[in-house]
Amino acid sequence: MTNRLRVGLVGYKFMGKAHSNALARLGMFFPTDSEVVRQAICGRDAEWVAEAARQFGYPSWETDWQTLVARDDIDIIGITAPSNVHRQIAIGAAEHGKHVFCEKPLALNTPDAREILAAVQKAGVRHQVGFNYRFAPAIRLAKQMIEEGRLGTIYRFRGEYLQDFIIDPEFPLVWRLDREVAGSGSLGDLGAHLVDLARYLVGEFRQVLGAQKTFIEERPLVERMTGLSARADESAGRGRVTVDDVTQFLIDFDCGAQGSIEATRFAMGHKNNLNFEINGSRGSLRFSLERINELEYYDADEPEGLQGFRLIQVTEGTHPYLYAWWPAGHVLGYEHTFVHEWYEFIRAIETGGETAPSFEDGMRCCQILDAVEKSAAEGGWIEVASI
Ligand SMILES: NC(=O)c1ccc[n+]([C@@H]2O[C@H](COP(=O)([O-])OP(=O)(O)OC[C@H]3O[C@@H](n4cnc5c(N)ncnc54)[C@H](O)[C@@H]3O)[C@@H](O)[C@H]2O)c1
Repeated sequence: MTNRLRVGLVGYKFMGKAHSNALARLGMFFPTDSEVVRQAICGRDAEWVAEAARQFGYPSWETDWQTLVARDDIDIIGITAPSNVHRQIAIGAAEHGKHVFCEKPLALNTPDAREILAAVQKAGVRHQVGFNYRFAPAIRLAKQMIEEGRLGTIYRFRGEYLQDFIIDPEFPLVWRLDREVAGSGSLGDLGAHLVDLARYLVGEFRQVLGAQKTFIEERPLVERMTGLSARADESAGRGRVTVDDVTQFLIDFDCGAQGSIEATRFAMGHKNNLNFEINGSRGSLRFSLERINELEYYDADEPEGLQGFRLIQVTEGTHPYLYAWWPAGHVLGYEHTFVHEWYEFIRAIETGGETAPSFEDGMRCCQILDAVEKSAAEGGWIEVASI
């Protein structure tokens, strides 16, 4: 092995850890032609980023992303900072000739996403956006089954992404509730994943009809946030929530199918419940992230009287990505999706192949999110192509 692909990662908290873990596991389970190296990690606070570098196995760290993207000993920039800095970092990385992996949503809005896409295309670097659920083996199997025609003509996509971590009105005003930093609320945080899965499995959106609501309009200011937990700053007062607490929308797909998506962080009892059902003329598929190793399949070609949803345990060596892991029945989890997405990205860099989901997909998702917001604000169906 001669080639080295050296990664510089911006962000060291929730996604920073998920991606660092994936990079550490990658070569062990999915050997590639190149050695993938955790080279440097970046955050704004020197003490914390130094600690993250030690804990996640990076030999060096930076406190300024501009220094990181300019370093000669980095080949790939991974962006796991909030959406408000994706544009600058991704464009800066591309201008320095680095391949770019960026967390979702690609940008705060469609114009920013277009700018990012133009920059990576101009630089001729590889780009991928972090829609990691595409890389769950059950989702990959669903894609194969749809392509094989097992569902026939698709009529319906029905998706929900439900969490409850901000339902307490005293939960502080974290960056996810600030439009300037996050772009939108449950729509961009959660809905973006379902938009990507719906595009991946069913196809392009023609138009959307949306509704949004913010239930809690003011919250205590935040002192510290870790993962999805946060502590309020008791002395600092309160600030305004500037994003949606719930978004619902209808979808008219190009292929003629219809769909609906609900995204909210106000669904008490649901911690991270992304689920969807797809109904076609020959069958249906059901998936829930809380049962990530399972896919439910209704086959209308089964004999009458014996039909019914059946459970496929997606843990066999013949299922997507499973060949590299454990013996059949030894289940995978959330973190494995990150290993798979990095594997595909590295292979695309090595072979010159296409990346998917690319920044083009990231930009199209932003277009749909913006169309939903426009529809919610103005009323009526909004053509995605008009954004
Ligand atoms: N794919 C997924 O399932 C998934 C899950 C959660 C979050 N995300 C996305 O990942 C991104 C980060 O979310 P998170 O939950 O990891 O956030 P987080 O708050 O846990 O971590 C953000 C990190 O970004 C760093 N950061 C912020 N501004 C910076 C700057 N100017 N320069 C350098 N570093 C900076 C912070 O120091 C921190 O390390 C967001 O775009 C979010 O939408 C994706």
